[in-house]
Amino acid sequence: MINLGVLVSGSGTNLQAIIDAIEAKKLKCSIGVVISNSHGAYAVHRAKRHNIPVEIIPNNIANTREDYDTIIIDTLKRYSVDLVVMAGFMRLLTPKFVRAFPMRIMNIHPALLPAFPGLNVQRKAVEYGVKFSGATVHFVDEGVDTGPIIIQSAVPVYDDDTAETLRQRILKEEHKIYPYAIQLFVEGRLEVKGRRVIVKEHPKIKGSMQNPCYADD
Ligand code: GRF
Repeated sequence: MINLGVLVSGSGTNLQAIIDAIEAKKLKCSIGVVISNSHGAYAVHRAKRHNIPVEIIPNNIANTREDYDTIIIDTLKRYSVDLVVMAGFMRLLTPKFVRAFPMRIMNIHPALLPAFPGLNVQRKAVEYGVKFSGATVHFVDEGVDTGPIIIQSAVPVYDDDTAETLRQRILKEEHKIYPYAIQLFVEGRLEVKGRRVIVKEHPKIKGSMQNPCYADD
């Protein structure tokens, strides 16, 4: 069974969506470890509530970003992690980390990449005046939010939206598409061809998760 290592820094609603999908048997994998760079992250509380092993690795544990990532890599290997899932982990990964798990690190970003990479992107989308934004799950490469895109879900941006109302609307989509993207990986259906991720046909496995972008709520 594919074993996940989930990296978190914040409230952990995406972690919760992944846990819920596993418990509902829609997502057929395990979470071997949740790693947080912050003691106070609510995500840590969520993991503990579900008896998932937690490792806190504070930012100041290492002098360089590479040394920090070496500790994370070692921890992930110690828990036999197959797929690294970044769920609101507020650090940029070094090339060493990315090369240790090639096309085996996923991230979720609250915008329709390649528009609005980086931080505070819901506010930037509202201020820019785009009519649609959304969520993107992608593999992590050595750039910032530049890796091959696995799945996206779009939401409208309304005239009276604030960064917060848009954030909430996008978050709902995140919770649908992240477990789905992970399940596609679990089923071995993601084929990376250069920048493109091809989603291979499902060999008609019963009970497989429906693409949430086409499913009713
Ligand atoms: C989400 O908006 C995600 O897209 C971004 O960080 C946020 C994490 O939220 N990468 P949560 O901790 O999963 O609630």
